[in-house]
Amino acid sequence: MLVTEGDGAVLACDDGTVLHITPLGGCFGARVAGVDLSQPLHPSVVAALDHAFVVWHILCFPGQDLTPADEIRIVQYFDDGVYYEPSVVAYSLPGYPEIDIISNIEVDGKAIGYTNRRGMEWHSDLSGMPVMPKASLMYAIEVPETGGETYFANGHLAYESLPAERRTYLDGLDARYSWVQLQEWLAKASGTWEPMNRETAAKHPDVVRSLVRHHPVTGRKALFFSIEEIVELSGLDRSETRALLEELIAHMTTTPHVVYRHDWEPGELVVWDNRCLMHSVCEYNYEGQRRLMHQLNGADARSAEQTIAIIPVAL
Ligand SMILES: [Fe+2]
Repeated sequence: MLVTEGDGAVLACDDGTVLHITPLGGCFGARVAGVDLSQPLHPSVVAALDHAFVVWHILCFPGQDLTPADEIRIVQYFDDGVYYEPSVVAYSLPGYPEIDIISNIEVDGKAIGYTNRRGMEWHSDLSGMPVMPKASLMYAIEVPETGGETYFANGHLAYESLPAERRTYLDGLDARYSWVQLQEWLAKASGTWEPMNRETAAKHPDVVRSLVRHHPVTGRKALFFSIEEIVELSGLDRSETRALLEELIAHMTTTPHVVYRHDWEPGELVVWDNRCLMHSVCEYNYEGQRRLMHQLNGADARSAEQTIAIIPVAL
């Protein structure tokens, strides 16, 4: 049962759990109280959270004390499965290839996780893979005093706030994603990661999908892209493609209410709808502060239906 509470809601579940949902302050995103994610959830609680997930797009659960197995269980409440990429496990949690470590911490001079040291990089997780997530999840263990926040952009609002003519033009564009290009960018951005070898690269074809995506639950359209992964938009050359993507980022980052900045607290788990949100990390003092996060992605069984073409990589 749902009872509205201000702009938020109270969800009473069949097992007696009462979820209190409070907006994070913007037009999307909500904090959830009343649930201990370290315990398996009753199906009625999962259904209520799944409903809230579609409504608010970001659900934030502060004060959680979770094991890696909990994290893997939780992402599957919001998605059909859990994703992992066998060829890129360099910074996964030992024993848990599904969990990526996002961190600048070094032990004995060796990085324990991945860090993008360049700063802003707007993207949707795994947008260039044949199977994409509905839900992406991050769990904060250590966070910097300042910086290291995550910016989220609402792809629905970004699209809907464009002029009608521009929306019509964008509706007709397909984007070619290169996982190989993305891995090269990520390697350079980290400074600690070796670019993949040719054999590994050949296993990951380019994927073509629409620049504007329909949300499969609501039908609402959303801008959906990863700037460092797209090599070509239909009918545009490489520099025109880059210019258009930068124009769209400028639009969404300067339009009121499209972007929400999340300031992390240790013990906070955030799950977001990767089908309609883009996100970017914010830079921080990589030498003087510590950041340790776990990241997981779900695997949407129906996401392959959104693939327009798969193109083998020429080596
Ligand atoms: Fe990401």
